[in-house]
Amino acid sequence: MADEADIGSRGDVLVTGASSGIGRATVVRLSTLGYRVTALARTGVALEALAGETGCLPLELDLTDTEMMEEVLGHASYDILVNNAGTGAGMGPLTGASARDVDIQIDVNLRAPLHLTRLLLPGMVARGRGHVVSIGSIAGRYPFPGMAVYGGVKAAINQMAKALRLDLLGAGIRVTTIAPGRVETGIFATMLNGDAEAARDRFFEGYESLLPEDVAEAIAWAVAQPPRVNVGHIELTPTRQVPGGLSFARGKDGDNG
Ligand SMILES: NC(=O)c1ccc[n+]([C@@H]2O[C@H](COP(=O)([O-])OP(=O)(O)OC[C@H]3O[C@@H](n4cnc5c(N)ncnc54)[C@H](OP(=O)(O)O)[C@@H]3O)[C@@H](O)[C@H]2O)c1
Repeated sequence: MADEADIGSRGDVLVTGASSGIGRATVVRLSTLGYRVTALARTGVALEALAGETGCLPLELDLTDTEMMEEVLGHASYDILVNNAGTGAGMGPLTGASARDVDIQIDVNLRAPLHLTRLLLPGMVARGRGHVVSIGSIAGRYPFPGMAVYGGVKAAINQMAKALRLDLLGAGIRVTTIAPGRVETGIFATMLNGDAEAARDRFFEGYESLLPEDVAEAIAWAVAQPPRVNVGHIELTPTRQVPGGLSFARGKDGDNG
């Protein structure tokens, strides 16, 4: 695992949620392009394997532990932060959700990117360069059933990025959100308590979803632009997936008992 002296000095890019899915593919792509990448997640063995494959610096950290995050990354400096870590745990209708279901979504998908950005931005501002890339979702822009919390949190990620652009006017820092539709990753298994087979049957079998590499390519494109170019927002969906629509329930006032 990472030596304290290495953190933020060897790596120009910090990618969170790097042990699988989009984050892993992003580490592979950015490493291939010559970026020095620190790969953060909780699963050390997956990070070690990725380090062997790409030369990235593995950093084992639980992003729900804000105190530890501050200790490890409080003095780090990165030119590019990719806020990618996310969870499907607790996702589902708010009716019947537990307090834990709500909190885990907020802690991993919103609180952590806010704190990471808060910790790493001052260094970027001092150096007059930097790039914060955050992975939102089409669920942050269009309403999906059962996604009041996840969608609300992802909408907040979009709004965070827009507000940052205003706060950072003239500072030389770029801010990008990437909003994917369905990507074939393990996040759907985390939604179903880790049942990968059920997730495959329900979400992937018979559908042509995006691949993690598709999203990694969009991230790589955004960060590789010349410094004068800020890519604000990229939405990418599978060609056969279309968000939107309007629902109308039959019935009249009083029909619900
Ligand atoms: N897949 C999709 O269809 C889709 C669509 C739109 C947006 N997204 C977004 O894309 C991002 C990446 O998700 P993915 O689809 O690639 O899912 P994934 O394969 O499940 O990856 C999630 C990553 O987040 C890490 N993570 C989870 N909790 C963490 C914690 N407490 N501390 C540190 N790392 C943590 C996981 O690593 P460890 O378990 O090792 O910690 C893993 O590396 C998420 O923000 C997700 O909301 C996904």
